[in-house]
Amino acid sequence: MTKRVELYRDQSKSVYTSGNEQRLIFHFRNDAFAFDEPGSEQLDRLGEVNNKFNYFIMCKLESAGIATQIDRLLSDRETLVRRLDMIPLECVVRNVAAGSLCRRLGVKEGTDLSPPTFELFLKNDVLHDPMVNESLCESLGFATPAQLSEIKAQTYKVNTVLSQLFDDAGMLLVDYKLEFGIDSEGKLFLGDEFTPESCRLWDKETRVKLDKDRFRLGADGIITSYIEVARRIGLDLSEH
Ligand code: C5P
Repeated sequence: MTKRVELYRDQSKSVYTSGNEQRLIFHFRNDAFAFDEPGSEQLDRLGEVNNKFNYFIMCKLESAGIATQIDRLLSDRETLVRRLDMIPLECVVRNVAAGSLCRRLGVKEGTDLSPPTFELFLKNDVLHDPMVNESLCESLGFATPAQLSEIKAQTYKVNTVLSQLFDDAGMLLVDYKLEFGIDSEGKLFLGDEFTPESCRLWDKETRVKLDKDRFRLGADGIITSYIEVARRIGLDLSEH
């Protein structure tokens, strides 16, 4: 399977055609961006760690009955995925207050959110991904009511599966972002990625941050931290 044309790139990966109309290739890069701004740093092994982490999590979700975009791992930094028409929404679930929720609403970081919250953001770089609600999504045609209801149900199901996975490994799944897409037959799939770059994970006892917030805060050891998170959930990413 060889990469052909780069269709688009986001902060962590480039997406290529594969020669098969129904499949695309995710190529995870080593670029680390602290924020939603130009200018990245190169971190050795970041692409490989994110690629393998994402594949591992998506396989866990598939086993739990969630349809994902994943087909198979192609190499250290590449995964073959279904070609989807992506819904331009970021779906965020929060179990504990952090990040933009604290900034927007003045909530203290670490406040438990019960029940977990569900937020929708429009994927739009120029507008800096503004928050939207279900009414706006429907009226502006970002997703149908049926898709929104399925997206919400799947996003919460992911929360049940992954909160337990990380809890068993001594970590707290604080929040995460998911994206969904539709295949050529109109079926909904969980797409894009789930990596330590797209979620917040804290150590359950010490509440030390183990995710991309370390990098956003200028801390060292981001790759070591991701490898430790992986080790705790049963994925060996150490170099042999
Ligand atoms: O920044 P905010 O607190 O809204 O982020 C919520 C969650 O969504 C975090 O886990 C963050 O890493 C993730 N996120 C993301 N990509 C974005 C925005 C947020 O992965 N563009």
